[in-house]
Amino acid sequence: MCGIVGYIGYNDSKEILLKGLEKLEYRGYDSAGIAVVNEGGVHVFKEKGRIADLRSAVDEEVLANTGIGHTRWATHGVPSKVNSHPHQSNSGRFTLVHNGVIENYDILKREYLQDVPLKSETDTEVIVQLVELFANEGLSVEEAFRKTLTLLHGSYALALIDVQDKETIYVAKNKSPLLVGLGFGFNVVASDAMAMLQVTDKYVELMDKETVLVTKDGVVIKNLDGETITREPYTAELDASDIEKGTYPHYMLKEIDEQPVVVRNIIQNYQAENGSLKIDEDILSAMKDADRIYIIAAGTSYHAGLVGKQFIERMAKIPVEVHISSEFGYNMPLLSEKPLFIFISQSGETADSRQVLVQVKELGHKALTITNVPGSTLSREADYTLLLHAGPEIAVASTKAYTAQLAVLAILAQVSGRSKGIETDLDLVKELGIVASAMEALCDSKEEFESIAREYLSVTRNAFFIGRGIDFYVGLEGSLKLKEISYIQAEGFAGGELKHGTIALIEEGTPIIALATQDFVNLSIRGNVKEVVARGANPCIISMEGLEMEGDRFVIPEVHHLLTPLISVVPLQLIAYYAALHRDCDVDKPRNLAKSVTVE
Ligand code: F6R
Repeated sequence: MCGIVGYIGYNDSKEILLKGLEKLEYRGYDSAGIAVVNEGGVHVFKEKGRIADLRSAVDEEVLANTGIGHTRWATHGVPSKVNSHPHQSNSGRFTLVHNGVIENYDILKREYLQDVPLKSETDTEVIVQLVELFANEGLSVEEAFRKTLTLLHGSYALALIDVQDKETIYVAKNKSPLLVGLGFGFNVVASDAMAMLQVTDKYVELMDKETVLVTKDGVVIKNLDGETITREPYTAELDASDIEKGTYPHYMLKEIDEQPVVVRNIIQNYQAENGSLKIDEDILSAMKDADRIYIIAAGTSYHAGLVGKQFIERMAKIPVEVHISSEFGYNMPLLSEKPLFIFISQSGETADSRQVLVQVKELGHKALTITNVPGSTLSREADYTLLLHAGPEIAVASTKAYTAQLAVLAILAQVSGRSKGIETDLDLVKELGIVASAMEALCDSKEEFESIAREYLSVTRNAFFIGRGIDFYVGLEGSLKLKEISYIQAEGFAGGELKHGTIALIEEGTPIIALATQDFVNLSIRGNVKEVVARGANPCIISMEGLEMEGDRFVIPEVHHLLTPLISVVPLQLIAYYAALHRDCDVDKPRNLAKSVTVE
């Protein structure tokens, strides 16, 4: 969480920094700030709230060619102006922005800064005060910065400026993502290439524990021992139009609508010349060697993993366990002899998942990352990567990444199975094509979902999603979508589990959204609906063509029974979207959340 940017060159930096922060706002929006340095000194502008609030606080008259900026998702200290970045050392000489969490900041405070009054409640201020302390002891800025870094435990992406040298930005990273972007006569720093696509598409990746001196004409990368490192830049393959909303009122709606195209992209990207689906041989051999697969993920990606388990077990006949990444680290199950780890992560940056990846690599196990972001930390650090090809997902609530994850998992499962001689009666290329068309039909029925949201969710304080088998997992995802953007307390349950406790929550009018897309449990889930209706619930049954019954509220087009999650989730995404709209919620930037969760 949190996003940082920096610019050094010949142009005024303010607008470049502000535009960059706007693109990074998905990483946190509790507060924002920029600091620019010119002959007149350092000028810091910061505000609680959004970049739009910061914009109105920036003094247009101040011109400066060097600056840094930050958008915050609060960890240490409440969202407030004083806790906003950039933070300054007490003399005002050094100014710093930070993404990450310094775990030992309290120890450092006690050990080194007893006599230094701190202004904020943040861990970040400790870093900037330490740099000043060591500089005052006679170290050069570079040495003081590097000495400070050796003391830090935790995660950081940092950009530091010195009022006495407006020609350098000092940069470092550990565990938090950070890139340096290259231009002619200018260079930039950003948590994500998207932020600086406005000025460059050439980037250099930074590795953990590296420091970088960024000037307008050069970028010098050093390891912690001070040795210079050379690394070739890469071109960020992002189309600036992908990250614009276009005519859509919200990114979330745009991204829901993009799902058919994403599924077709995936088919194309995973198709061999002869039309069959393909996966890299080294991934297939890792799948073949594995006696058990451990899927590690968080949130929506975890929900995709639950469905992925079904795909892999049925099509590749390999046992699969699915784990929440934040739990796995300290609660590791007894591993099988030849495990393969699959990390599912839209952003490829989720710190909870990354800490598991580090752990399993230390144990010598192989890891595959399924991600939307090439070059992301989880992709770089795993042995293998499968890309989602979904295009940037900007809305905090994940939609197209989920369906893309399902499509890629289905392809991985089937191709792995085939490579072991296991045939399924599923023509996946054809069936995914049918899925894409079904998604289009659902996206064309938006008024239906708007009216369901109005009818069931306008005034309620809670809602339940039920299903059996694969529908249960989609219900979990539907409930997460609804709660995170509309703030309605929503939970997903296995239909049969209701009577073991949850049914006590049913009151007159409680909305129950039930999925019925699986023939073998169609009657049982309808039985569960009857149980809650008998206790006053207001049921909304979403069934699939061929399984529909009188009174169903919406019938989705028929697709292969294994692939129903790819389309049954679309009505749930749209219902959540309209429920949030009806309640005047900020759909793309729900409260307390951030898109890329880079703290553990
Ligand atoms: C919910 C949502 C989150 C993410 C979770 C993992 O809509 O987006 O639950 O799925 O934070 O993020 P990634 O997939 O980037 O690892």
